[in-house]
Amino acid sequence: TYVVTENCIRCKYMDCVSVCPVDCFYEGENMLVIHPDECIDCGVCESECPAEAISPDSTPGLEKWLALNAEYAKVWPNITLKRDAPPDAKEWDGKPGKEELFSP
Ligand code: SF4
Ligand code: F3S
Repeated sequence: TYVVTENCIRCKYMDCVSVCPVDCFYEGENMLVIHPDECIDCGVCESECPAEAISPDSTPGLEKWLALNAEYAKVWPNITLKRDAPPDAKEWDGKPGKEELFSP
């Protein structure tokens, strides 16, 4: 499966949503997650994300984010249509410490 990671927080560009063939993105207030049981590992979203926030779960160190994706994909609503990114998305891109800003 692929995993949405820290840099999505407050960037939320949503380009990933338009390309996923199985619509397995779920939307929280300031980030999206991927449902690990629904992702078919096509890899299309990885290069589509302007924030480079998506990686395969085989990437070392992503265990925590995989768990978070699995947890919130069960409770957040499914998102299938891309909307505009937040107006300050670019300012947040690459900022350290965004994990603390995660909104469940
Ligand atoms: Fe969707 Fe493919 Fe990305 Fe999985 S890897 S979330 S199936 S676009
Ligand atoms: Fe987030 Fe990148 Fe999608 S910033 S919403 S994972 S395009």
